[in-house]
Amino acid sequence: KTIAVFVSGNGTNLQAIMNAVVRGALKARIALVVSDKKDAFALKRARRAGISTLFLDPKDYRDRRAYDAAVLRHLKAQEVDLIVLAGFMRILSPSFVRAYRNRILNIHPALLPAFPGERAIKDAFRYGVGVTGVTVHFVDEEVDHGPIIVQEPVRVLATDTMESLEKKIHKVEHRIYPEAIKKVLSGGLILKGRRVLPASHPE
Ligand code: GRF
Repeated sequence: KTIAVFVSGNGTNLQAIMNAVVRGALKARIALVVSDKKDAFALKRARRAGISTLFLDPKDYRDRRAYDAAVLRHLKAQEVDLIVLAGFMRILSPSFVRAYRNRILNIHPALLPAFPGERAIKDAFRYGVGVTGVTVHFVDEEVDHGPIIVQEPVRVLATDTMESLEKKIHKVEHRIYPEAIKKVLSGGLILKGRRVLPASHPE
């Protein structure tokens, strides 16, 4: 199976996925790492590992549709089975989501539907929750929304700071994302009583 990973930032989740592939824990090939940010450290991680990268600058496209169409053209050439969003900070257009329905995963650092958005860890911490966590879900047309694949709770202790909570959450992310990808690729996934077919590239 072939995956593409979309990034915008540091790429610690990308790193965890690459490590799982190297270890043999995740039997997949990372065909491409796509970024909307030229300086994303994630691109360096990919290049260092010998993985092809694609940077497309949103400024070069007249709108979201045009940008997404360009990304789609590159993906089609690669026959990608599954798209993995790992800190990709752009919203995908409905037509992109339709082209890869149930074939785009996202990881979110909170227990959805609580605390969607870009500052989920901070929002949960500031709210004063006793439990937050990590969600891996399929991407649909809404932001931080779609069928949930796995969730893992993370306790917030009285002694926790934003920084310590952030650390705990990232640690969980790096463990569960490769596992969730493996589950989806193997086809052993049952969502709300319905088996989801193993991801394979759209015809
Ligand atoms: C992660 O916390 C992820 O949940 C969120 O963006 C962050 C990406 O971090 N969607 P990294 O680039 O993988 O280090």
